[in-house]
Amino acid sequence: MNHPVDVRALVVFESMFGNTATVARCVTEGLEEGGLDVTALGVRDAAGVDPSGFDLLVVGGPTHAFSLSRPGTRQDAVRQGAPPAAAEGDGLREWIATMPLGHGHLLATFDTRVTKLRHLPKAASSRAARLITRRGFRLVSRPTGFVVTDIQGDLVDGETERATAWGRLLALETRHRLAPVPTS
Ligand SMILES: Cc1cc2nc3c(=O)[nH]c(=O)nc-3n(C[C@H](O)[C@H](O)[C@H](O)COP(=O)(O)O)c2cc1C
Repeated sequence: MNHPVDVRALVVFESMFGNTATVARCVTEGLEEGGLDVTALGVRDAAGVDPSGFDLLVVGGPTHAFSLSRPGTRQDAVRQGAPPAAAEGDGLREWIATMPLGHGHLLATFDTRVTKLRHLPKAASSRAARLITRRGFRLVSRPTGFVVTDIQGDLVDGETERATAWGRLLALETRHRLAPVPTS
């Protein structure tokens, strides 16, 4: 299908062991297949980037203690084998706290988790959704989880394909929400 490249998405992700980064890459592919112009940034490269300059913001991070990571849980991840550099600097929680306000801008959130349930009220994606909608963004999709086999990963079979498909769906929904309403 031929899409004009006029809808822009920003994907911001955090990852300790690399699994959420893999999901973010797959979601980015899906968004691009859906015709969106995508910028994907690790959270440390997203400092100072204004997400309200994009049509869609997609935020994803690992679930730590039923929520977004904190400095202490990132240190725990290092103790469990994550590279020390992954715990340096801000995580998504801190990035969200400094985000400029959105004005009805579109949002989707995802996480990775060991818990098999995909729609979990207490997880990184639901926490991020709550914090960012409070800052004036509107969800285009339910917060969604992608499952890993263990704390370090890997992703469960089929999750990368599901992430790409989810990205395509987000692109479709974003285009639908941005389409002008016919006047007659
Ligand atoms: C300190 C810590 C706390 C965690 N808490 C949870 C949790 O509450 N629920 C859950 O499903 N997984 C939990 N996990 C597993 C992570 O979700 C898993 O490590 C993550 O999805 C891997 O993603 P990453 O490779 O991008 O870091 C926890 C992991 C760590 C290191």
